[in-house]
Amino acid sequence: MAPDLKVLLSREQIAARVAELGQQITGDFAGEPVVLVGVLKGAAIFLSDLARQIELDSTFDFIAVSSYGTQRQNSGEVKLLKDVDQSMEDKNVILVEDILDTGWTLSYLKTMLLGHHPRSFRIAALLDKKCRRQQPIHADYTGFEIPDEFVVGYGMDYAERYRNLPDICVLP
Ligand code: IMP
Ligand code: MG
Repeated sequence: MAPDLKVLLSREQIAARVAELGQQITGDFAGEPVVLVGVLKGAAIFLSDLARQIELDSTFDFIAVSSYGTQRQNSGEVKLLKDVDQSMEDKNVILVEDILDTGWTLSYLKTMLLGHHPRSFRIAALLDKKCRRQQPIHADYTGFEIPDEFVVGYGMDYAERYRNLPDICVLP
């Protein structure tokens, strides 16, 4: 399908880490219900795997944004394409994102969701490219810290392709 893609994180590594994150979240919320808010489309696969590793009463919601700029360069402008369906007031919100890069997207979404006055607010990001950060934001639950490489697979795309790859691969 794409022979020049190099595997950075295998499906086995991802599954093991997602299970650990699920256990951590299960422990942290001590029986309280949570709302998992996924950022479409990239976080859809991570959310579906993570949700099945969380042993709590949980519901899903989804949000969609577009960032202006080219595929690989975020300009800092974020536009909301789809809001959450329900109010997050007094809920334990876990914002689920595929990758924390410059931080513009999650900063925007954090401000927006805090406006709902949730009971608690946490961020779960599968990947973190810390060296690329432009906004002071961090994830409460991080799968893997990765170097400054453009990755695809496990939900993440390049021009909408490669989301269905089971491993996370580096795009040359
Ligand atoms: P940020 O606003 O720069 O933190 O951008 C985060 C968003 O950019 C992520 O949700 C991804 O959709 C996208 N993104 C950043 N780096 C990558 C990458 O390496 N591969 C695919 N998408 C990426
Ligand atoms: Mg995204």
